[in-house]
Order: sequence, then structure tokens, then C-alpha cells
Amino acid sequence: MEQHYTLEEIKTWERFYRANFINSLSGFKSASLIGTINEAGNTNLAIFSNIVHLGADPAMVGFINRPLAAAPHTISNIEKTGVFTINLISEEMISKAHQTSAKYAEGISEFDATGFTPQFTETCKAPFVKESKVKYSAELMEIIPIKYNNTFFVIGAIKEVLFEKSLLNPDGFLSLEEAETIASLGLDAYYRAQLVARYAYAKPDLEPRLINN
Ligand SMILES: Cc1cc2nc3c(=O)[nH]c(=O)nc-3n(C[C@H](O)[C@H](O)[C@H](O)COP(=O)(O)O)c2cc1C
Repeated sequence: MEQHYTLEEIKTWERFYRANFINSLSGFKSASLIGTINEAGNTNLAIFSNIVHLGADPAMVGFINRPLAAAPHTISNIEKTGVFTINLISEEMISKAHQTSAKYAEGISEFDATGFTPQFTETCKAPFVKESKVKYSAELMEIIPIKYNNTFFVIGAIKEVLFEKSLLNPDGFLSLEEAETIASLGLDAYYRAQLVARYAYAKPDLEPRLINN
């Protein structure tokens, strides 16, 4: 039976129950590890799922960072060094990736704490995650504070992309399900992705057309 709740009712629910409920509403997302470094050269790694594509040309990506008291390290490293990496999570990486959400002290790198391997390119100061099969770096463009709840929208321009060649389709599409990259829901659930179908660019005067790859 369909339930109907108003915000006034939801507000009366227990805090963690309500958070689990609201966190599920925006649906499956691709959880990734964001890698950063501070000025002293200490690396940091944390799992983020509120990451969005902002545009293909110029190639831009953005993510929501919690209030500073809850998630201080990634955003402060990005403010100082102007660069970060986004590393997609494959199924075998899930438990370590989840562990990066723990509140480690500032001096402790989640690379060391969880056993992921930092990987550097000649042009990117921030660490990639060696174990990740699809990863990219971004240069900070803007941090937009969201006054209403003290979160931040961090916007970056994509600079380099590293991935396994076999994942790339002839039309440029990356077959992420072959890399077994996962989707997340809320703050504790992880899912496998399975392709249902690809469709050609939709036009008002044409029926939906499947793409056969
Ligand atoms: C599945 C999952 C998704 C998360 N997504 C985000 C997110 O999008 N934004 C955020 O600020 N924190 C998110 N977190 C929490 C951060 O991982 C956590 O606050 C982390 O300690 C931040 O580390 P930092 O202080 O090193 O930046 C998520 C946690 C989990 C388990």
C-alpha cells in the first residue's frame, strides 16, 4: 500500500532513521574515492557519492562536501592545492572504500589506514588510487558555499583520465559494468550495476531506438 508522509510527520522521526530514509530518496549513485594532498605532502582519501557531471565541454565535475566539522580534510586540501582525483570503486574495493569514511585524525592518511596504493602521474599533484580501474583528476574552479545547510558545492575542470583500454567502446562510451564499478544508496549500501539497454539520442518525431553494441 502506498504511504504518504508530509515533512511535518517525517520531522518527528528518530534522527538516524530519518537520515537513512532521506538519504535513500535521491536514488543510486556512483560512489567514488576522492584523493587529495596537503601542502606538506600528506595524502587523504575519502568516499563520496554526491558527485555530478556538470558538462562535457568544458569537461566539468562537481561534488557536495558536508559541513567542515563533519568532513574537513578533502575540501581544505583542495582549497590549498587546487587539485583532486576521483577514483571509481570496483566491487573488490568496497570494504576498504567504505572504511575511508571513518573520521581519521588529520595526520593519518586513509591510504595507509585502509591499504589503498597512491598513484601519481607527472602532471597531477593529487594521488590517484592505483586499484581503481577508472579515475580522473580535476583542477578546482570554484567552491560554492550553500548557506542553508553549511555544505559546499566543489567544482572542478577535468584534466586527465586513466582507465583500462578494454572498457572503451568504439563510440567513446565507457563500459563501467565491465570494470564492476559499484553504485551506492544512502551511506551504507553498495550495488552491482547491470546494463539494461542503450538508446539512441531521443527525438520528438522518432520512436525510441535501441543501440546495439
Ligand atoms: C557511501 C558514502 C558516501 C558518502 N558521500 C559523501 C559525500 O558525497 N559528501 C561528503 O561530504 N561526505 C560523504 N561521505 C562521508 C565522507 O566519506 C566522510 O565524512 C569522510 O570522513 C570525509 O573525509 P575528509 O574529512 O577526509 O574529507 C560519504 C560516506 C559514505 C560511506
